[in-house]
Amino acid sequence: MSRRLPPSSDRPRSITILGATGSIGRSTLALVAEAPELYRVEAVTAWQRADELAAVARSCSAKLAVIGDERCYPALKERLAGTRIEVAAGMDALVEAAERPAEWVMAAIVGAAGLRPTLAAVRRGAMVALANKECLVCAGALLMREVARHEAVLLPVDSEHNAIWQALAGSERSAVRRLILTASGGPFRRWSLEAMAKATPEQAVSHPNWSMGAKISVDSATMMNKGLEIIEAHHLFGVPEEAIEVVVHPQSIVHSLVSFKDGSLLAQLGEPDMRIPIAYTLGWPARLATTAPELDLCARSGLDFEPPDLERFPALRLARLALRQGGAAPTILNAANEVAVAAFLARRIGFLGIARTVGQVLERLAGAVVDDLDAVVAYDAEARRMAAAVVATIEGCGPS
Ligand SMILES: NC(=O)c1ccc[n+]([C@@H]2O[C@H](COP(=O)([O-])OP(=O)(O)OC[C@H]3O[C@@H](n4cnc5c(N)ncnc54)[C@H](OP(=O)(O)O)[C@@H]3O)[C@@H](O)[C@H]2O)c1
Repeated sequence: MSRRLPPSSDRPRSITILGATGSIGRSTLALVAEAPELYRVEAVTAWQRADELAAVARSCSAKLAVIGDERCYPALKERLAGTRIEVAAGMDALVEAAERPAEWVMAAIVGAAGLRPTLAAVRRGAMVALANKECLVCAGALLMREVARHEAVLLPVDSEHNAIWQALAGSERSAVRRLILTASGGPFRRWSLEAMAKATPEQAVSHPNWSMGAKISVDSATMMNKGLEIIEAHHLFGVPEEAIEVVVHPQSIVHSLVSFKDGSLLAQLGEPDMRIPIAYTLGWPARLATTAPELDLCARSGLDFEPPDLERFPALRLARLALRQGGAAPTILNAANEVAVAAFLARRIGFLGIARTVGQVLERLAGAVVDDLDAVVAYDAEARRMAAAVVATIEGCGPS
């Protein structure tokens, strides 16, 4: 693998931010704004929010701004008129943004929509800071194979995987007994099933510790997020499903742990602030100075841990099942979940209908091997069709 150098004012790091208008994109830009001499922004992308993208592109002096939805192109073009920033639109343009020669790429598009641009960055051997966990869930084997083939570097952004990556540093993989992913438990940690059946989108997206986009916030509320993270950890660290444990830790201070065969348990701790894991990838292989708050241990007395409740949070069980089944099952799980979460946010189904939809699609759609992009796209599309059909049968049936 070619030697990767940390950013410096003598040698600014060229970077691209896919999903620049989102929660992760903005945290990344906040870090860039703290030390602008260390970076040169090649491209920034968004889906539909042209005003926000134009403002972001101007503020970081990006060379290129790409909007995914072609209908938003005129608005973006108008907002960036008179600047030297290039403007483009459409899925192919998102892929081209990822292909531009940036050394480091933040993959922060939400959902499987991020797969093609992320693959494009991987295939030119970039350092890819991976926030978009759905990529690894729907195409883990393919993505990891391409990372190895093109000598790309995958830098885990998810706070749990970033913590494990830090805890693993310098250790033999054979010394690892298991990985322990911590979960906040989300806003409904103490809610009864009856109360959850009536939960509104507003209640589901109001996370107790983290400020995140709507989709991941709902995933945290169902605990599907932790299920997706089990699959993500399996691919990133090559650990089997049964050696990945989930522990509910409501304070979100211990971001995850590695248990070693000698009995040692190594953890990474910090305030729940995504700038911390993002900074570790942005500066890698060096650590950056940031203004993110330092954890005050004495002010934070009491760290609690408890096992997850699989009765109230069946999504966690479904994700484990999909990983054990292998083949296309994780692709199907992810696609069905994206459709169900969107239906819940649109108030078409109740909160419990999300796991119900995913469970039914997983049961009906068997998965063969998915070892190329065409197969992933085909299973993803089929699962979305089936999930839409399941949603149609349960919507309007009251809390489901
Ligand atoms: N937020 C966190 O703290 C956190 C932590 C760990 C991992 N992650 C992961 O990071 C990813 C991003 O999460 P987020 O919370 O930042 O999401 P978010 O706030 O919803 O932002 C999503 C970004 O992706 C863009 N986008 C949405 N749909 C797209 C599409 N079909 N094609 C291209 N671009 C699209 C959005 O553009 P518009 O603004 O135009 O809609 C926005 O820039 C997710 O995979 C999530 O699981 C997030």
